[in-house]
Amino acid sequence: MHQAKVLIASNRGPVAFRLGDDGSLRMSRGGGGLVSGVSAATSDGAAVWVCAALNDGDRMAAARAPGGRLDLDGHDTGGAAVRMLPIDETTFRRAYNVVANSTLWYVNHTLFDTPRMPVFDARWSRYWQAYVDYNTAFADALAEEAADGAQVLVQDYHLFLVPALLRARRPDLRIGHFTHTPWAEPSYFSVLPDDIARSVLSGMLGADSVGFLSPRWAEAFVRCCVRLLGADAGGTTVHVAGRSTRVFVHALGVDGDELRERAAQPDVVARREALRHRAGDRRIIVRVDRTELSKNIVRGLHAYRELLRNWPEHRGNVVHVVLAYPSRHDLPDYRAYTAEVQRVAREIDDEFAGDGWAPLILEVNDDYPRSLAALQLADVLVVNPLRDGMNLVAKEGPVLSHDGLAIVLSREAGAADELAGDALLVNPYHVSGTAAAMHEALSLPRDERQRRSERMAVAATALPPRAWMRAQLDAL
Ligand code: G6P
Repeated sequence: MHQAKVLIASNRGPVAFRLGDDGSLRMSRGGGGLVSGVSAATSDGAAVWVCAALNDGDRMAAARAPGGRLDLDGHDTGGAAVRMLPIDETTFRRAYNVVANSTLWYVNHTLFDTPRMPVFDARWSRYWQAYVDYNTAFADALAEEAADGAQVLVQDYHLFLVPALLRARRPDLRIGHFTHTPWAEPSYFSVLPDDIARSVLSGMLGADSVGFLSPRWAEAFVRCCVRLLGADAGGTTVHVAGRSTRVFVHALGVDGDELRERAAQPDVVARREALRHRAGDRRIIVRVDRTELSKNIVRGLHAYRELLRNWPEHRGNVVHVVLAYPSRHDLPDYRAYTAEVQRVAREIDDEFAGDGWAPLILEVNDDYPRSLAALQLADVLVVNPLRDGMNLVAKEGPVLSHDGLAIVLSREAGAADELAGDALLVNPYHVSGTAAAMHEALSLPRDERQRRSERMAVAATALPPRAWMRAQLDAL
């Protein structure tokens, strides 16, 4: 087995396995933006991608793999070999559900309902130990797979401890970490117990460079290092305990050609026709989100209700297409949130539907081609997260739009850095302000809307996944 010159580490890998009723394993391409980002840049085939087994099918495939690397059977992973780690289920569940998704992700999105959560007790300490073990399994596998002086790109909040653990094992490597979420200011980050907060920051500072999607998140990270680790920060470098780590910012956009090509396929065309048929010749307001608490879908629906109440001229003339896909349904908060989205949608329907008009089309099942079709048809796109590392839907919208769209965009999304000039920015907590922005978006003259949409499409495609990947390697 050849050791690799370039390695990628992420929780979710480029392929996934499902166990059939007959005991056979089926392989498919894994989900998520990270997968396309990374595979776009590893096409020379010299890379190894280390990821976790996420379910029983994955664990079985990983256990069967000779030397740990999967037999990919011609599946496209951008040319990378894949090493899937068969971490035991309890360790994985604790590390992924509790620590990564319910604690670290919540901290950096500032989502805690603080009168109740978080609670750091003896049980939580066991969960933290699982996160340490899970990160250690990655560090061990990377140390084994990496050639002398190799470059290692570690991704996201699941793997905050890996850079320092890996450096301790292999000081010869060039290690980068990239965070895809926002970062919290020190006042909020310190809800974490001090030792945990310090472990997270020093874990990351084991890297030679740490990357973020927006200057806002990078600056907050540096302030956390100064406040909680006593680090020195000058320019774009953080110094602590005799080591220096470069902090860099690189936004992530979409590959316009690839996206348009996918959207020209017959499955998208069929869904576009079906949606157009349901909406009639009415204006269409679209949103497309994973149903994550940060996406603020419920306030978005309240804003739509206020639009219909305050500007009656839109009643009967507009349809809101809400595509809210399932995410992390192992977590009770997420299930409750989906139920709330459905409840508020029903209320809006009860209040306004009539005369052959349904004000809302809500879908909660996953259908990628339908999302592309909706973005092609949208007159207005609503992207109102409470906080978002980047938000690629805001970038896909103007690229796919057939007739130019207006975007109502949260100022708390990383994408606002690039799209602020042409989107209608809102404070995501301000429901009335969001309703007014929806009205303004519907009222923009057509040529003005098209001009804005074209400029946003240019901005959205300026930094495709390949450039983002290259920036991570260059930062080393
Ligand atoms: C969210 C985060 C991303 C992360 C992704 C992982 O969208 O903001 O940074 O990569 O979740 O999702 P998963 O389905 O793998 O838990």
